[in-house]
Amino acid sequence: MKILMVGDIVGGPGRMAMARVATRYKTEGRADVVVANAENSAAGRGITSTLAEELFAGGADALTMGDHVWDQKESMAYFDREPRMVRALNLPPGCPGKGATTIQTKAGPLTILQLMGRTFMNATADCPFRAVDEWLKKNGSQSKMILVDMHAEATSEKVAMGKFLDGRVSAVLGTHTHIQTADEAISDKGTAYMTDLGMTGPCDSVIGRTTDAILSRFLTGMPSKFEIASGDVRLHGALLTLDPATGKALKIKRIEEILFKPAK
Ligand SMILES: [Fe+2]
Ligand SMILES: [Fe+2]
Repeated sequence: MKILMVGDIVGGPGRMAMARVATRYKTEGRADVVVANAENSAAGRGITSTLAEELFAGGADALTMGDHVWDQKESMAYFDREPRMVRALNLPPGCPGKGATTIQTKAGPLTILQLMGRTFMNATADCPFRAVDEWLKKNGSQSKMILVDMHAEATSEKVAMGKFLDGRVSAVLGTHTHIQTADEAISDKGTAYMTDLGMTGPCDSVIGRTTDAILSRFLTGMPSKFEIASGDVRLHGALLTLDPATGKALKIKRIEEILFKPAK
């Protein structure tokens, strides 16, 4: 069972990259399922129902979100009606949507669950450790294959979650920082781990936004409009191979696909 997990999709360039790579990987038999983090799909800010449909049509089988989940008011109701949309499990009670979804694949059920970190995060969330522990105790036997998107800023919190869930889930893959890490590994207990999948979008930028606008903010502290950058479009993520019988990870490969690099 091969799963392509795609790092944060940023704007139109990121959506185009996801669709092209998902289609290619599925056609070539390199991925059976594509899961993507889509929290920055709408020009960096959340997602709309139309853009989510575009990503599903482009090959995504489930979409996870993050701290930008409610940036587009229009999509709030969509989270309640579309089972393939996943927001963080540890959001406070009363939020729309759900923190885990199970999709049927040719190799059996696959659960996708998202957690949001609390260290250096500007978001309201309950303890992700207790939330996932309770969830697994109640629902953990429903699927052998469980993929966790750990959306957090601090590497320590992500590594700690990887250790906490070691042997209990198939994979713990980090999102949110937009910078890919080189620490992909599989534990002795069969859990794949990677601190951050990276970003899917314009890489000649400051995590997806035009460099000039971000530099101006840092240099002067003055507000400026953060536009989505263009050029040097890449897809970052990881390709997992899972054993459907046990849910254990057999392989994890860091992925970088360069879609468009402007001539110098
Ligand atoms: Fe985020
Ligand atoms: Fe993000």
